[in-house]
Amino acid sequence: MSAPKKLFIKTYGCQMNVYDSERMAEALGGQGYVETATADDADMILLNTCHIREKAAEKVYSELGRFKGLKAEKPDLKIGVAGCVAQAEGEEIMRRQPLVDLVVGPQSYHRLPAMDKAVRRGEKALDTDFPEDDKFDTLKKRTRGKRGPTAFLTVQEGCDKFCAFCVVPYTRGSEVSRDAAQVIREAQELVEAGVREITLLGQNVNAYHGHDGGLAGLIWELDKVDGLERIRFTTSHPNDMDDALIDAHGTCTKLMPYLHLPVQSGSDKILKAMNRKHTSESYIRLIARIRAARPDILLSGDFIVGFPGETEEDFLQTMSLIETVGYGQAYSFKYSTRPGTPAAEKPQLPEDVMHDRLQRLQALLTRQQRDVQQSMVGRVVKVLFEKPGRIDGQLIGKSEYLHAVYAFAPADLLGQVVPVRITEASPNSLAGEIMA
Ligand code: 5AD
Ligand code: SF4
Repeated sequence: MSAPKKLFIKTYGCQMNVYDSERMAEALGGQGYVETATADDADMILLNTCHIREKAAEKVYSELGRFKGLKAEKPDLKIGVAGCVAQAEGEEIMRRQPLVDLVVGPQSYHRLPAMDKAVRRGEKALDTDFPEDDKFDTLKKRTRGKRGPTAFLTVQEGCDKFCAFCVVPYTRGSEVSRDAAQVIREAQELVEAGVREITLLGQNVNAYHGHDGGLAGLIWELDKVDGLERIRFTTSHPNDMDDALIDAHGTCTKLMPYLHLPVQSGSDKILKAMNRKHTSESYIRLIARIRAARPDILLSGDFIVGFPGETEEDFLQTMSLIETVGYGQAYSFKYSTRPGTPAAEKPQLPEDVMHDRLQRLQALLTRQQRDVQQSMVGRVVKVLFEKPGRIDGQLIGKSEYLHAVYAFAPADLLGQVVPVRITEASPNSLAGEIMA
C-alpha cells in the first residue's frame, strides 16, 4: 500500500466551517489522505474560507500568496479553496491566483474525491453547484474514530432572511433543513464515538423545519438519545424563536442555558434599513419571555456599528438596548461593505466614526461580560471536561453557560460532567475546584 497523502486544512470563519472541514477531511480520508497540522509537509492544502466581511475574504488571497515557495519546491502539492469565498468568487480565484488547483463550494464538497482524482491528473477542478443530490447522503457515516466530548452537527443551512448587509443568502443559498431522522442518526454515531455534547448548527438554526415540531421537536428527539448529555444550538434569528423553543429552555434539562440571539442594532430606523423585520422593543419583549422560561440563561449577541445611515442617536439606542438586555457574551463588528448586497449601494460612514463607536460598544460589552464572569465566583457550575489544561494535573472544560473553566482534576474525568465550585474569574475563563 502506498504511503498516505497528507492533508492540511485551515479553517476560517464560523462554526459551520469547522464542521465542514471535518467532513471534508473525512471525505478525502477515503482517498488515502490523513490530516497534518502544518502546510509544510502537506500533499494537499485546503483553505476553508469565510466571506462575511471584507477582511476575511482578503486574508484568503494573502494566505494563498504565501504558498508560492512551497508549491515551487513541491510540484505535486495541490492547493484548494473551499467555503464561502469559493462559492462567491468561483473561477475568479484561479484567475487571480493561478496556484489554486481546486475550488469547491459548501454544497458540493461531497464531490471532493472525484475532484482530487482530477487534480492528480493535472487538471483544474471547480465545483460551486447547489446540487440536487444531498451531500449528507453521500458523506454517510461519521468516520473519525475516538473524538473529544463535544461536536458540531449541521442541521440547517442557508438563509431566506436577506438582511441588507449579509452575503449568507448568496453564498450558502436558501434555507434547507436536514431530515430529523438523518440528524438523529448522525448524533447517535457521534455519541458512540464518545461525544457528550452536541451543538446544532445552522445559519438560521431556529428556522429548522426537518421535524414537524421545528427545532424544539428535534431537540426533544435528541433528548431521548442515551449518552448525549448536552444540547446547544446556534445561530438564531429573533423572529424564529417560537413558543415551543422558548418553552424547551425551561423544560428540557439537556438543553443548556445559553442563547446566541443576534440583534445587530438597537435603532428601529436602522433595523428597518437592515431588513431585520423586528424592532428593538419586540426583541426586548422576546428576551423577557426567554428569561421567564429560564431565568439564569446566558445571552449572547451580534452587533454591527456604522451601518449606512447610522447617526450618533441610532448608535446610542444600540448602547441603551445592550444596557437593558445585559449580555454575557458578544460579537461586534464594524459594518463591512459586501458587493452584491442591498446595503452596498448606500453611502458609507467614515472609518473613524465606525472605529470610535466600536470602541465604545466593545467597552460596554466587555464590562457586562466581566460582571457576569465575576458573578460566577462562589457558585457551583457543571463542567464537561474536554481536554488537559496548560498546567500539569489541570483539566479544562465548559460550564453549562459556555464559560471556559479550569480545575485540577484526575484525567479520568475527561468527557464527564462534574460539579465545580468557581473560585476565580479572569477575563476569558474561570477557575474552580471540583466537588466530586
Ligand atoms: N458587516 C459587518 N458585520 C457583518 N455580519 C454579517 N455581515 C456583516 C457585514 N457586512 C455580522 C453580523 C452577523 C455575524 C455573523 O456577522 O453581526 O450576525
Ligand atoms: Fe445573514 Fe443572519 Fe441576516 Fe441571514 S439572518 S441574512 S445569515 S445576518
